Amino acid sequence: MENGKNNPIIDLHSHILPQMDDGSQDVQTSVQMLRRLAEQGVDTVCATPHFYARQESIDQFVCRRMNAFSQLNDAHIDAKDFRWPAMQLGAEIAYFPGVSECAGVEQLCLAGTRTLMLELSYTQWTPQQVEDVASLSLDHGYQVILVHPERYAHIKTFQADMERLLSLPVALQMDADSLLSWRKRKLALQLLESTPFPLLGSDCHDLSTRPPRLAQVRQVVARKLGKEMLEKLDETALIWTQNQTVETWEV
Ligand SMILES: [Fe+2]
Repeated sequence: MENGKNNPIIDLHSHILPQMDDGSQDVQTSVQMLRRLAEQGVDTVCATPHFYARQESIDQFVCRRMNAFSQLNDAHIDAKDFRWPAMQLGAEIAYFPGVSECAGVEQLCLAGTRTLMLELSYTQWTPQQVEDVASLSLDHGYQVILVHPERYAHIKTFQADMERLLSLPVALQMDADSLLSWRKRKLALQLLESTPFPLLGSDCHDLSTRPPRLAQVRQVVARKLGKEMLEKLDETALIWTQNQTVETWEV
């Protein structure tokens, strides 16, 4: 393992599947993004395209996702000049009222797990939103990952709502871009330290404006919070992706 420990390096969050969302727009870009992650020592990539309930049904999303994965799998047959990371399919679910009672939402879990990744609203956090997170976690037994909470500091009720969210058994996943930005780094580091379940994701979208930068951000975390935090991140990632059905590339 690149990190010198027993734990693999897992990229929890990526928009690497071709033509699923505002991430990779073609297979060649996806392959190059995977290549960069492989060069950074990443063993498993969670492919987590945006899911917007107002735009499509869960069945439609899952079908599109399988087609996108299948295109990438075809490319694997022609591009064996690097070690492809394993891939675990999931989704970045944009919060919608009633998500905790939504039929079929389990199909959006990381493959083979009860782990759901939730993107909270950028405009306003309502009591219902916070309670939906609590319900997913406590009533329905999902392992909820709140993605990039460091990007919501502008929300009026952020401090109070984060206190409530931190009292729940939910994980907080920081984005590489935030930890590499002077403006957002402080809060992202604070949140990593304040949660028992810290996670990292590249949240990569392309090769230029939001490229895969997991190795770079791991260096920042090691420098600012110590190697123990990196080990904790890797352990948490392994647990929250466990029972995984890792897609295997056809040969
Ligand atoms: Fe994302």
